[in-house]
Amino acid sequence: MLEDTHVGFIGGGNMGEALIKGLLSASLLSADRLHVFDVISSRMEYLAGKYHVQPAVSVGGLAGNCHIIVLAVKPQNMASVLGEMNSHLSHKPLVISIAAGVPLSTLTSGLSDNIPVIRVMPNTPAIVLEAASALARGPHVTDSQMLDALALFRAVGKAVEVEEKWMDAVTGLSGSGPAYILLVIESLIDGGVLMGLPRQVARELVVQTVLGTAKMVQETGNHPAELKDLITSPGGTTIRGLKIMEEQGVRGSLIEAVEAATLRSRELVKD
Ligand SMILES: NC(=O)c1ccc[n+]([C@@H]2O[C@H](COP(=O)([O-])OP(=O)(O)OC[C@H]3O[C@@H](n4cnc5c(N)ncnc54)[C@H](OP(=O)(O)O)[C@@H]3O)[C@@H](O)[C@H]2O)c1
Repeated sequence: MLEDTHVGFIGGGNMGEALIKGLLSASLLSADRLHVFDVISSRMEYLAGKYHVQPAVSVGGLAGNCHIIVLAVKPQNMASVLGEMNSHLSHKPLVISIAAGVPLSTLTSGLSDNIPVIRVMPNTPAIVLEAASALARGPHVTDSQMLDALALFRAVGKAVEVEEKWMDAVTGLSGSGPAYILLVIESLIDGGVLMGLPRQVARELVVQTVLGTAKMVQETGNHPAELKDLITSPGGTTIRGLKIMEEQGVRGSLIEAVEAATLRSRELVKD
């Protein structure tokens, strides 16, 4: 599907690099078909040196040469990038934006007519090829273009298609989610340290516990409560710990964290 496709990244920062790394590791695209333009020339030199991708001379130069253009700049730089691209889109490339909070309407109105645009919300585990990404398609996107875009993001983790109206909830859940889980990881490590474990030992045990538990939920497909019940024996240790977590409202605080982050995402779009 993507065999002869040239993919270009405008913005080669953290996310741009993670995606380039993922596409190459998954052998989805070879480096001669991956292009990058970043305003920081040292950043392009670094990416070209490390991954052998093709540096472009300008936004327009990249846009004119690529079938898929990934916009990986900060939201505040989006308007100028769209303006610079516009006169280089006569070949009707697919445009994919990963900028948080920039709606499809802003992207399509900033581009010439009928350019297909997909909005994506990835998350930081893309760096280790374990991203959770949600993709929303704009009006002119074909099923085949959507499949190409899903394939790109599946190279760096899991990817699902959603309607754009769910993007704020996605931002509050999986976009901000790594921060919630990092807080849980940090707290559990501190719990181990409180009980006298060396910090490094506690860290190794906690990280593997979180990784293994997530994998268990993913691979068995069982309800989390069912898996939890299996390790919660009557009168045992786990039920004591769970009782404290319920008393402290851990469940409610996580649910409300997602709600608060979603509402904030909705506000940011209006700013
Ligand atoms: N990191 C995340 O967790 C995450 C998650 C989901 C979505 N996103 C989205 O991904 C996008 C990129 O995030 P990031 O963390 O990769 O940002 P980043 O590290 O700042 O990378 C963006 C790069 O684009 C460059 N740039 C700015 N204007 C440009 C232009 N006109 N043409 C070409 N390059 C330009 C920036 O240079 P300057 O520094 O000079 O501006 C920077 O090197 C953002 O829109 C963000 O909302 C990020």
